[in-house]
Amino acid sequence: MNDSKFELPAELIEAAKDAYTKAYAPYSKFHVGAAALTKSGNIVKGCNVENASYGLTVCAERNCISNAVINGEQEFTVIVIYTEIDEVTPPCGACRQVISEFFASDAPVIAVNHKNKQKVWTVSELLPDAFTPKQLSEN
Ligand code: THU
Repeated sequence: MNDSKFELPAELIEAAKDAYTKAYAPYSKFHVGAAALTKSGNIVKGCNVENASYGLTVCAERNCISNAVINGEQEFTVIVIYTEIDEVTPPCGACRQVISEFFASDAPVIAVNHKNKQKVWTVSELLPDAFTPKQLSEN
């Protein structure tokens, strides 16, 4: 997509910001909040949760999606990633794969920061030719 402002519900940014305040990141000290809008109109949140066994850390985006799934939501229209660094934070590779599972390939993924800097990508821009449930269903 591009770096221009995407019309985002203010509550979605507020939700991502609130999730950011819940981050458990004593090792990296890099706090991340995420919020997604479900097709049914609900907002779901997630933050990064680190672990003393570092590799078990789970990112904000994946916790956001898991939190939604456990609450009965599996379809989303947009996800916001909130951090407080000068540059916005793009999702890591693992999160791109999990986002591709649950979002349409043209759904927006929006990174924002505390200065309201925004960057918008589509899901397929972040992970072209993703491996999705579609491949398994054609088996
Ligand atoms: N992190 C996220 O939560 N989301 C991202 O998109 C990038 C990285 C977290 C994982 C870890 O807790 C910290 O940021 C530093 O990598």
